[in-house]
Formats: sequence, C-alpha cells, structure tokens
Amino acid sequence: MKITLTFNPSELVGAGFKPALAYWNVARVVVIDVLRACSTITHALSQGCRAIYPFASVRECQERARAMGRDKVLLGGERGGLRIKGFQLGNSPLEYPREVVEGKDVLFTTTNCTKNLNTITRLGKPKEVLICSLLNLPAVAEYLVTKGEDVHLALSGTNGEVSLEDVVCGGMLIHRLVGAYGHTPLSDSARLAHVTYLHYKDNPRQALLDSTHGRRLIGLGMKRDVDFCGRVGVYDLVPRYSKGAVM
Ligand code: MLT
Repeated sequence: MKITLTFNPSELVGAGFKPALAYWNVARVVVIDVLRACSTITHALSQGCRAIYPFASVRECQERARAMGRDKVLLGGERGGLRIKGFQLGNSPLEYPREVVEGKDVLFTTTNCTKNLNTITRLGKPKEVLICSLLNLPAVAEYLVTKGEDVHLALSGTNGEVSLEDVVCGGMLIHRLVGAYGHTPLSDSARLAHVTYLHYKDNPRQALLDSTHGRRLIGLGMKRDVDFCGRVGVYDLVPRYSKGAVM
C-alpha cells in the first residue's frame, strides 16, 4: 500500500503539479475536513440523512434545489463559517440532528471541502472516494486495511492553505495504516502529516484548538463545534461519494 497526500485542493490543479495525474491511478481517495464539513456529513448520515449532495458553489446548490423541488430538499453549508442566506442549515454538525435530517436529502456547499470533492471527481476516476473526519477515522482505517490498495489523502485545508487539524487527522490515519502494514511507502507530504500527528498523539483534540481555523471558529462562538469534531471514533461509518452524492 502506497500513501500520498495533498494539503489542499489547489495542489490538485496547481500549475505544473504533474504528479496529481499519477495520483488518480490510486484505488481510493480519502477526503478529509475535520473542521467541519466531513464531520458534519458523517454526523448527518449517522442521524438518518438519506444523502448529501456536495456542490462547489452556492449558485449550483440553488439551481439543483429548484430542479429537485425546493420543498423536497434541505439546503446546508457555509461561507466564512456562517450559514448562507436563504439556507435552512449551516455547517455546524449540531444543526443536523435526527429530527431535522432523517430521510432527507441535503444540498451542501462549503468553502473548501465541497470544492475538494468536486475537483477530485473532475480530475480523475478513483474506485472510491471516502469521507473521513476524526469522528469516523477508525472505521475508515479498518476499511482501507481490508482493501490493502494504494490511497491518496486529499486534505481540504482552508482557503488554499494547510489546516493543522486536517494534517493531524491524515497523520492519524497513516499511523494506523503503517501499524497494520509495517513498511508502507509514504510520499514526503504523507510523512510530514505522520510526523505532525506523532506530536499530537496523546491529545489530538489539542490540534483543533491550536489550529487557525479552530481558533477562528471559537472566535465566532462555535467552540461547541470544535469540541464535537475533536472526538475520535464516534461513528462506525464510511461515507462514500459517488454519482454526485455522499451516502
Ligand atoms: C469548509 O469546507 O471550508 C469548512 O468545513 C469550513 C467550516 O468550518 O465551516
């Protein structure tokens, strides 16, 4: 099993970033966004949400809502961390309890994660695209171990920059895969993530508190979201993105 990693979606399309093309021969891409989109998606599915449709832009989300029937879907997501005007839901996992999302389809757009998902499917055709946060990391690790094939970790980052919490989550996943396989070829970026995780090994939640985005969310009054997303292995779920929907 070979493991490669990109720190944010712009690396996937960056000028001269040729290896990206080679990456798409990997069997699986794991999309990571700890704060908060992948945590929110995983939590919503755990609450009985039928499917989440990720869109890169607000306009695409609204157009699809009109096509599907505005009263048949929920619109969710954020810009600048805040709920989008006219949307029923933001990007806080706490806004997605069973009584709100059970049996519902959610059309979803966020600043970085849904762009990451859309970029991946535009650039390549991996066998599977999986969604990972700390909440479901052990389940994703276990699944990848049973498959034993090459993996690319596509971190979402924040506005084209690296996000510490995503790096630590990616590093934790790598740690588990290396633990299961012994010698596993890692790209330099994957090795960097692994080393960063080892720094936070005894208290991964601290990475969320230290991170720029975590501090920003706390500044916006969203400390409960940061605490919620900092828990490891709460859900035994491996959400997959296929044909435009995460289920
Ligand atoms: C994103 O996809 O950019 C994030 O999930 C941002 C956020 O915390 O709302």
